[in-house]
Parts: sequence; C-alpha cells; structure tokens
Amino acid sequence: KKRIWFSRHGESQFNVQDRIGGDADLSPRGESYAQHLPSLVSKHIGDNYPLTVWTSTMKRTIQTARYLDYPKKEWKALEELDTGVCDGMTYDEIAEKYPEDYIQRDQDKFNYRYRGGESYRDLVLRLEPVIMELEQHERILIVAHQATIRCLYAYFMNLDHDQLPYARVPLHTLIELTPTAYHCEEKYYKVDI
Ligand code: G3H
Repeated sequence: KKRIWFSRHGESQFNVQDRIGGDADLSPRGESYAQHLPSLVSKHIGDNYPLTVWTSTMKRTIQTARYLDYPKKEWKALEELDTGVCDGMTYDEIAEKYPEDYIQRDQDKFNYRYRGGESYRDLVLRLEPVIMELEQHERILIVAHQATIRCLYAYFMNLDHDQLPYARVPLHTLIELTPTAYHCEEKYYKVDI
C-alpha cells in the first residue's frame, strides 16, 4: 500500500522565541530531533526502505534531514507561508502593530493574505506541482513547515478551507498517511526530546 510521510523541521531558534518566518538554524532541541530522525524512520518506515526525502530550501528543513542517508530533493515550493511585513515578528507584536490584520486573520485564516506575503489559499496554489509529483511517486518523506504540511495533509485528508489552517501538525512527530479508496489512515509517531 502507498504511504506518505511528513515531518516538520525540528524546533528552530525562531520557534523558541515564538517568532514566525525567517531562516533560522535549529535550536539544540531541534538538532536533537534531527539526530533522532534516522532511527524514527527505520523503526516506523523500515530499515533499508528506499525513501526519497524532500525538503524546502530553508536551513531548518535541510538541517533536520541532514542525518538521513537517502536521496534528497530541495523544493522552493515547500518553503513556509510568506508572512511578508510580519516576517520575524511574534504574534503579540503583530497584534500590537497590525491589530486589524490580526482580527481579519482570525476571522478567515484561509483567505487572509499577509501584507506583502501569502495566504493559505496562495500556498495551496504554490503547492500544486508538489502534489502532482507526490501523486506520481511512492516512498516520499517530506520535511517541511507547519503551513505547507497543513496544505498537503488537507489535500489527502479532504479537509475543507475552514479546517485546513488549523490542522494539527506538531513538532518532533513523524506523520504517516495511508491513502485508501474512501479515506486516509493517519498515524503520529512522536519523539520526546
Ligand atoms: O507562519 C507560519 C506558521 O507555521 C503558520 O502558523 O498559520 O497557525 O499562524 P499559523
């Protein structure tokens, strides 16, 4: 049976400060997740399983995948949602500096587009080529970002536009999807670090 795996990058130095965007390195915890990932993969996916690993072009996904000894492909399309002028800010700073935007986003998270950035709707379009290639390939592990994984997950799980931006994609967890004819089975393998 075809399966697909997703993992967010390990905790980054921006995650620790609650900042969004940026291109930060992994934190020590995130680095520890990167070191655990090969054994998580061999435990749940299998030893010598012929995986291909797709990452974004951002440091935190490349660093998370760096101990995985498989062929890799970097996709610009897998980069995190572009938060435009809010890049590098905390949600508290956004609420203070752009209070109306903060409310608008809360009211319609799928369609809200960051000033100078993207919406989840934009992201779904950007990810179309990734989904097309995913449909044609097997044995892919995608190491990407919260918002991009939400979009891919929603595609396979048939989530609607209201649910997509709230899909649960925890850190330090390998997500396994097994698409079947009418639904998709999901499993979460979490590492405690
Ligand atoms: O900015 C990127 C975050 O991963 C997305 O989180 O859409 O829930 O604010 P959020």
